[in-house]
Amino acid sequence: MRSLWQATGPTIGFDEEAPRRTDVAVVGAGITGLMTAVLLARRGMGVVVLEAREVGAVATGNTTAKLSLLQGDRLHRILALASAEAARAFVDGSLEGQRRLLELLEERGEPTQRMPAVSYASGIEGAAGLERELEAARSLGLPVEQGGAESLQFPVAGAIRLEQQAQLQPMTVLAVLAQELRDRGGRIMRAAVRSAHATGEGLRLDTDAGQWHADLAVLATGAPVPARLTAAPLEAHRSYAAAYRVAGGLPEVMALSVDAPSRSLRTASVDGETLLVAGGVGHVVGRHADPRRLVAELDDWVLQHWQGAERTHVWSAQDYRTPDRLPWIGARPGSRGRVLLATGFDKWGMTGGAMSALALTGRITGREPEWARTLRRRGTTPAAAGHLTGTLGAVASTQARRLAAALAPASTPPEGEGRVGRDGFRLVATSTVDGATQRVSAHCPHVGALVRWNAEERSWDCTAHGSRFAPDGSRLEGPAACPLHALRAPAR
Ligand SMILES: Cc1cc2nc3c(=O)[nH]c(=O)nc-3n(C[C@H](O)[C@H](O)[C@H](O)COP(=O)(O)OP(=O)(O)OC[C@H]3O[C@@H](n4cnc5c(N)ncnc54)[C@H](O)[C@@H]3O)c2cc1C
Ligand code: FES
Repeated sequence: MRSLWQATGPTIGFDEEAPRRTDVAVVGAGITGLMTAVLLARRGMGVVVLEAREVGAVATGNTTAKLSLLQGDRLHRILALASAEAARAFVDGSLEGQRRLLELLEERGEPTQRMPAVSYASGIEGAAGLERELEAARSLGLPVEQGGAESLQFPVAGAIRLEQQAQLQPMTVLAVLAQELRDRGGRIMRAAVRSAHATGEGLRLDTDAGQWHADLAVLATGAPVPARLTAAPLEAHRSYAAAYRVAGGLPEVMALSVDAPSRSLRTASVDGETLLVAGGVGHVVGRHADPRRLVAELDDWVLQHWQGAERTHVWSAQDYRTPDRLPWIGARPGSRGRVLLATGFDKWGMTGGAMSALALTGRITGREPEWARTLRRRGTTPAAAGHLTGTLGAVASTQARRLAAALAPASTPPEGEGRVGRDGFRLVATSTVDGATQRVSAHCPHVGALVRWNAEERSWDCTAHGSRFAPDGSRLEGPAACPLHALRAPAR
């Protein structure tokens, strides 16, 4: 599945060579990694970006790319889980990240499309949530107003609105960042990082394309990889998105519902045509029985409101949520500040990635912004601790259920399907795709949880922390640094 952005945006290739010793190795070429790399290069630092797949291959190339401070009903939820001080620091950092990213794009001659953002409710409970969100946003200094329902093509129970936000083509954003990085001497190399170890002189990064040495590393990999002690508090949420050619009117705002079913809307201009982009139908990675139903559900909803809508592209992506729903921008435990990371954007990483780039660059160059320090030093509130307990409990009970479901003997599934079954003492994941049956270990190499077949994307998805693998076991994303172990076909 290629997103609208990947299918119609610029392709950003790799450099053929880069110094094997550098000031900072940035791992991951999404918005967080490339913006961090550019800001460091602007400060005169040597930077090499190491990317396992392609630039924009994972969340950033598959996002809906609204650059907005109105993020559904996230602010009042953050205020219930974190201190008001931390929430204020988050808003300050998001505003700064948004401003700096827009400024950077404009400086490089790349216009952005300004547009109001709207959060809407379909039912009474959602409308009450909107009231709380309005109050929370105002208490944190954001000029959110009542209104926005008139800009939508369907009736809603309530709406709130924030002017002057922006919608982006994320592959264009990455192309602009990659160009500036290269202009300043930085390089982007294809390399999957497996480990980062402290040496006497700094860090050694072991990759499938050889070693790199750096003073510092920044893990801008979505879930941090190499993951050591970082994945447990994160919950991976996956959503589906699609672009449609529609005959009727299009929303004049970027919109997001705050109640179920979750729906995200925006428009996108491609070759002089304006398409509708709709997203939603999210679930925790590896924990939905049949994600195929979700895309059909999204199509039905669009057709209900835009008769005759024709789907042109469909894609999906995942992002990570911390217990207090604030980003985690800091150092990997035990790394003595040498391995920095940024994660937990809760599906708002266009601003979150930009603010992380500012925070990390500030920390590396000794000019950490006050909001970044406040966010970094925030404690865990009892409410967030309760949330974490729930996340850990859900992982444990899912493992128990998956183990019970995997007790049948391993068998060959029909085309497009995958099954986990027993082969002696081993649990085997078997799939059949395009006529080829492949067997891999059913245990995720991260910490051994069971994988589950995702029939929509034809992938094995880990039921614990969201790592995903292709039918042959190769790693697609998530905290696992290695592939699923490939197994031979059973002897007949
Ligand atoms: C469906 C959906 C819709 C969204 N919509 C919005 C939106 O409208 N607005 C918004 O602000 N945010 C949105 N988000 C969130 C946003 O897209 C993400 O938070 C953001 O793109 C994360 O960027 P990143 O650079 O941190 O991660 P990524 O873009 O995932 O980049 C990480 C990179 O690291 C690479 N990598 C991983 N492991 C290794 C390794 N071991 N070695 C080398 N490279 C590695 C990956 O291949 C990848 O390219 C959405 C998210 C989803 C899932
Ligand atoms: S991602 Fe942690 S066990 Fe699979």
